[in-house]
Amino acid sequence: MRRKIVAGNWKMNGSKDLVQQLVGVICDHAVGLDSGVEVVIVPPAPYITLVQQQADGKLALGIQNVSQWQSGAYTGEVSADMAKDLGCWYVLVGHSERRQLFGENDEVVARKVGQVLESGLTAMLCVGETLEQREAGEAERVVAGQIKRGLAGVSADQWSRVVVAYEPVWAIGTGKTATAEDAQAMHAEIRSVLESMKAPSEEISVLYGGSVKADNAAALFSEPDIDGGLIGGASLKADEFISICRAFPAGS
Ligand code: 13P
Repeated sequence: MRRKIVAGNWKMNGSKDLVQQLVGVICDHAVGLDSGVEVVIVPPAPYITLVQQQADGKLALGIQNVSQWQSGAYTGEVSADMAKDLGCWYVLVGHSERRQLFGENDEVVARKVGQVLESGLTAMLCVGETLEQREAGEAERVVAGQIKRGLAGVSADQWSRVVVAYEPVWAIGTGKTATAEDAQAMHAEIRSVLESMKAPSEEISVLYGGSVKADNAAALFSEPDIDGGLIGGASLKADEFISICRAFPAGS
């Protein structure tokens, strides 16, 4: 079943104090519990346990990155099994910052997706085009390629643990959001790419990310193929994040 999900990707921000304040307020507002929205916090890895203690089962946890390898002599890496051991449920894979700043290509992304699914966790595959690619009319082709190559190894019984997050690179941290119509068009396209891969596309949540804020979330979340959001900057502000979690149309 397609789940409604709002995930807060803190990126490399935060501190023990911030965890205490932010997670405390979000839990006090019991965001998501009564509305069927899965609220996920994706903090920097060292704070995962602290977030978990603070959330006390009221929020789901994610990790921003895992290794493409299972275990062994890979100094500085964190494995999918370790993320599971810490209580994570979701793993971001292929975020554009990892692709652009850490040279992760689709092959590495596919290996990471494999590790995540092997460990029993859910992979949140991030895809999206750059501004040049969009202006050249290549957005659909680029996103379709990222999905086909990133998810090439997913087996029939693993699709229920795949989430796709469409994050146009030009919208991340820029204050520019895709219009709800443009985002919807790409989400529908993503679903048809999944269909072509024999995935149960109607059961896979497809999230939108890129400058989602309290004042644009409702329009995005009203679109039929947008199942929620992957939130960066606004997830570090309790009031903004709580409003975004509540931005789904009534009765949806
Ligand atoms: P912003 O919401 O800050 O644009 O970041 C989006 C993002 O990259 C979430 O993963």
